[in-house]
Amino acid sequence: MKNPQITQQKTRYTMNERMLKVLITGGAGFIGSNLCDHFMAKGYKVICLDNFSTGFRKNIEDHLSNPNFTLIEGDIRNIEDCRKAVEGVSYVLHQAALGSVPRSVKDPLTSNDVNVGGFLNMITASRDAGVKRFVYAASSSTYGDSDALPKEEEKIGKPLSPYAVTKYINELYADVFNRTYGLETIGLRYFNVFGRRQDPAGAYAAVIPRFVLQLMNHQSPIINGGGDYSRDFTYIDNVIHMNELAMLSQNPAAVNTVYNTAFGDRTTLNELLGYLKEFLSEYDSAIENVEVIYGPERLGDIPHSLASIDKAKRLLHYDPQFSIRKGLKEAVAWYWNNLKRP
Ligand SMILES: NC(=O)c1ccc[n+]([C@@H]2O[C@H](COP(=O)([O-])OP(=O)(O)OC[C@H]3O[C@@H](n4cnc5c(N)ncnc54)[C@H](O)[C@@H]3O)[C@@H](O)[C@H]2O)c1
Repeated sequence: MKNPQITQQKTRYTMNERMLKVLITGGAGFIGSNLCDHFMAKGYKVICLDNFSTGFRKNIEDHLSNPNFTLIEGDIRNIEDCRKAVEGVSYVLHQAALGSVPRSVKDPLTSNDVNVGGFLNMITASRDAGVKRFVYAASSSTYGDSDALPKEEEKIGKPLSPYAVTKYINELYADVFNRTYGLETIGLRYFNVFGRRQDPAGAYAAVIPRFVLQLMNHQSPIINGGGDYSRDFTYIDNVIHMNELAMLSQNPAAVNTVYNTAFGDRTTLNELLGYLKEFLSEYDSAIENVEVIYGPERLGDIPHSLASIDKAKRLLHYDPQFSIRKGLKEAVAWYWNNLKRP
């Protein structure tokens, strides 16, 4: 039988939590704007800090007139912007960064300024403002050249790109800020996240939205290599679930560490394209016949990536609800309704 006292305490705790302020940096981006939607819907006060370098105003447009939502147009490379954003905030969900391995290879200085300098500003401002917990976007790229599968949090290899270096430095700083200043931190190593609002355009677009856009336009997607490389593609709603658990966990053993944030299954690029064609041809049957082009392998790509999600299950009670197929079906419907077609 349930203990009524405990149930009551839990309810009271939830109500108080909902009046608290959450800062979402990079809140106009793909993952950040989905986090904004989620925490706004749950009744939190949400602050969004973004400089719109890769994010879009349209992603947060629905919230701009809501008094519970504050947009701070600013740059994490500027400590004053970070201090302003973090005022009175209980939790920080730090998403702002320059993503993409190729971007960091082309311009390591800017990736470092934003991802390392900006991170250090944000975590310092959070420490000074006395935030309860700093949850941040880490990356599966931290596994680098380790070929162990599935990837377990404590076994990493050497970074393979400037981007991976920046994300690993984030983890090192978070650990030191906990040890030195007692700030609670949790790093979420995201694995190939996909879903609504992920940008399909531009040189650094992720593979799923790029393929969707190409297929919708009857253009042949190009696969680098034979298509047998695999990834643990992770639907956005699993990532939101993980952020919420990390933010609110009351388990002391769950804090000051990092977690794989994934579904825990791997899908080859050929399988991925098969699923995309299957779901998109429900809207336009001609998509089934769009040919795939196989190009040369891309230097530095690791063949396979698969997360162990045991640690997140054990310590945070993570229970991802969206398999790749379930997530792709949702994502495809969103792109079909929101992307311009010829
Ligand atoms: N999408 C993935 O598969 C994936 C995988 C691993 C890690 N991550 C990490 O997750 C986070 C979010 O990624 P995303 O896919 O939503 O990317 P995104 O580019 O859509 O979002 C990043 C947001 O940060 C903002 N931003 C960038 N530089 C800024 C700056 N100097 N000051 C303020 N705001 C700034 C951008 O304008 C954008 O809105 C990033 O930290 C990324 O490295 C993403």
